[in-house]
Amino acid sequence: MANETMSGRAVPAPFEGEALRRLTLEDMAALAFVLLAEGAGDASSPLRKPVLATVSASGAPAVRTVILRNFDRPGRILELFTDARSAKVAELEREPRASMLFYDPRRDVQLRLAGQAVPLTGAAAEDAWAAAGLPSRRAYLAVTAPGSISPAPTSGLPAEVEGLIPSVDKLEEGRANFALLRFGFDEADMVVLSRSGHRRARIRWPADVAAMEWLVP
Ligand SMILES: Cc1cc2nc3c(=O)[nH]c(=O)nc-3n(C[C@H](O)[C@H](O)[C@H](O)COP(=O)(O)O)c2cc1C
Repeated sequence: MANETMSGRAVPAPFEGEALRRLTLEDMAALAFVLLAEGAGDASSPLRKPVLATVSASGAPAVRTVILRNFDRPGRILELFTDARSAKVAELEREPRASMLFYDPRRDVQLRLAGQAVPLTGAAAEDAWAAAGLPSRRAYLAVTAPGSISPAPTSGLPAEVEGLIPSVDKLEEGRANFALLRFGFDEADMVVLSRSGHRRARIRWPADVAAMEWLVP
């Protein structure tokens, strides 16, 4: 049995009965990569919008939704775009350890990744800036930093670019505010929810070979 995604691609039905019993550790590891590739490649997938968790200066957890822009499978690196002035960038410069959370409501699967995220700006983010669509680039024209207090409701954008996509030249003015976040992970924790009995597996990459083990869900 297979469900159809909005993009028409087949995805496995939730894991039940025989499908659950046959699930191996290798299947769990493979599924993690399928989910990440789908999130990076399919704008309509729920896996496109994971959560990034960082550690704030006070030591408190800080979480927010982000858009997954790219997945480098061999390097186990996920790429995100953000504003260099945002709290998350300051947090990562102070403490690079980070976690990402994905939930796939169609398969009822949770994927947690642990690793380190590095914010890159300027020349190091040049290729990512060039690859970013014009609507994505517009956000970096915001006059003040994300999270700044505003006396009135605001998009943060200059009035002349409200509601339109500015020229490429105008968008260049926001370039200094653009940061590429590269999140490299070395551990995955996957939970498959099932009426037949949940499954949980941990996968670690101490080197290039994955070490996999079942965990009690
Ligand atoms: C659906 C959705 C997608 C988002 N994608 C991003 C993103 O890709 N990059 C980003 O910096 N913020 C994104 N945001 C905004 C963040 O969730 C967050 O509010 C903002 O980045 C400020 O976070 P910070 O103050 O913790 O740095 C998104 C918000 C939503 C609702």
